[in-house]
Amino acid sequence: DFESKRKTIQSFVRAYPDFPQPGILFRDICPILRDPAALNTVIDLFEEHVKKNHMKVDVVVGIDARGFLFGPLLAQRLGVGFVLVRKKGKLPGSCVSVAYDLEYGKAEAEVQEDAVAAGQKVLLIDDLLATGGTLFAAVELMKKLQAEVLGCLVIIELKDLNGSDKLKPHSVFSIIQY
Ligand code: PRP
Ligand code: ADE
Repeated sequence: DFESKRKTIQSFVRAYPDFPQPGILFRDICPILRDPAALNTVIDLFEEHVKKNHMKVDVVVGIDARGFLFGPLLAQRLGVGFVLVRKKGKLPGSCVSVAYDLEYGKAEAEVQEDAVAAGQKVLLIDDLLATGGTLFAAVELMKKLQAEVLGCLVIIELKDLNGSDKLKPHSVFSIIQY
């Protein structure tokens, strides 16, 4: 059931104090990727969420860099394409871009202009929601491309930082909350 799967995933997440800078408790998802069954369980939980909510997904959009680890696996399960939202300067061709703030810094996100067509329904995916700055930037990019955001999926949500408020009215599904 969901609770036992959630507990399993939680056991694979490690916490590192003061990384990448003092005061940040870094939640590391790398051990999930080292275990094929755990990785599969994460994708199962995402897929179950999509199916349970009858989401008609056209495109899965993953966030640089850790959203790239899970997004393509989910997209394959759903039988849809995967699109990359990257940090500025990495994507060729015409792009739309937006600046944003992070729990520990600043960045600029980009997507290729022709990656998502107007009216397509997209699901955003990343490993972790902190302040919500990153996913909010991805929402802004989707708005510029006139795509419809169905919701956001993350493995971990840091509740104290209220990232899901920032993303309203879009829904956030998380497997683990701290
Ligand atoms: C981390 C994480 C999310 C983002 C969450 O990525 O993977 O993308 O921060 O923070 P926020 O909700 O406050 O925006 P990071 O920017 O460290 O980049 P990386 O994935 O390239 O390591
Ligand atoms: N991204 C933003 N905050 C983070 C945290 N505390 N752990 C891992 N990734 C993050």
